Amino acid sequence: MLNIALFGPPGAGKGTQAKKLAEKYNLTYISTGDILRREIAESTELGLEAKAIIEQGGLVSDEIIVQIIENSIKMNPDSKGILFDGFPRTYAQAYILDGLLIKMNTKLSCLLSLEVPKPELINRMMLRAEKEKRADDKKEVVENRLREYELKTVPVIDFYNQQGKYYPIDGIGTVEEVFERLTERIEDILSQTLLNVVFFGPPGAGKGTQAKRIAKRFNMEYVSTGEMIRKEVANQTELGKIAEPFLETGDIVPDDIAIRLIERKIANHNNTKGFIFKGFPSTLVQAYILSGLMKKSDTSISLVIELKTSTLQAIKRLTARSKTNKARTYDMNMDTIIHRMEVYEQRSGKIAEFYKVQDKMVSFNGDIDENKLHELIASTIEKAFKEIRK
Ligand code: AP5
Ligand code: MG
Repeated sequence: MLNIALFGPPGAGKGTQAKKLAEKYNLTYISTGDILRREIAESTELGLEAKAIIEQGGLVSDEIIVQIIENSIKMNPDSKGILFDGFPRTYAQAYILDGLLIKMNTKLSCLLSLEVPKPELINRMMLRAEKEKRADDKKEVVENRLREYELKTVPVIDFYNQQGKYYPIDGIGTVEEVFERLTERIEDILSQTLLNVVFFGPPGAGKGTQAKRIAKRFNMEYVSTGEMIRKEVANQTELGKIAEPFLETGDIVPDDIAIRLIERKIANHNNTKGFIFKGFPSTLVQAYILSGLMKKSDTSISLVIELKTSTLQAIKRLTARSKTNKARTYDMNMDTIIHRMEVYEQRSGKIAEFYKVQDKMVSFNGDIDENKLHELIASTIEKAFKEIRK
């Protein structure tokens, strides 16, 4: 979801630009100012409470604003996100917005701040006063609104600056020019959205083969916990020594090890389009852990590719691999292969369920031709990229 807060002093052009942006990106448009003016016009209880404050150029209470936002967040089903105009307007409202979006299982993408110097702001509002007759566009009220902005609203910038979500935009120029600056910035933010994918399936299903090809083709980072653990073992690092016995028997290594390795991988990436996880999660607990790991980097798992294969096919592939130089220690005897398949069978149902209820799982027949399968998965990945970047 693309959730934008359009920010800036009174008269900066928030309303003007917001309407165009909402249309272009198919966003639900929420202007607290417009809603309050409507409430006043309809003489509702809320409107009566807000009227005097607005006419003096003050800010209405956060309590009133929460009610307004909660009522208007009921989005239309086609909406791709929300565009806030005039909210958050206090430091407290920034936290309120966080809470509201968490409740909706989403987050703010960016705060786009229209920068316009004070004399131009006053100029614009005086011009608007002639056309629109807004009760708060009188000279002394405008002065008060600008003071309120400096005092109570500017601190909101800090809140988002700390999260790297604050983007100042030059608000001087024609409406079209400013709009172009805004959309350029939005496109840029959208292109940075990561697509994170889990490859899931029994041993021998072809996860590694397919996951690596997809990572290469889409410029994504391949994260195989198995591969990372083998490297640690080979180098006899502290983590490697702990992991070694588990690897040899084909058992799942302790979660702490995989977590450290994944954290390291995420921290060291540069310029990736997303992460591809293979071999993790292999338990329900790890599925929860992965959600947390993603959250920590302000991202999430978007897609789970399940490769299905018959037991017979998997055994054939693993024994074939055991005769090549890619042989794993746990490929070498049938007992270990069967043990790994049993471990998978015991644990996989709950993981599948975890992602199915989130509507993230897409299943493929892993027994078909490798190239054909690759193309099928690639087109699913392409669609997913379009989806998150819309
Ligand atoms: P609100 O309605 O949000 O008003 P505001 O923030 O003061 O902003 P404006 O609507 O005046 O300006 P704008 O940035 O939208 O500019 P516009 O596009 O119209 O809030 C009103 C009151 O409600 C507040 O004072 C407060 O009391 C209360 N309130 C609202 N939200 C609240 C909250 N969250 N918490 C507490 N209280 C809240 O453009 C201005 C003019 O310039 C227009 O005439 C336009 O045509 C023109 N213009 C636009 N772009 C350009 C350009 N590029 N070049 C030349 N002219 C331009
Ligand atoms: Mg406005």
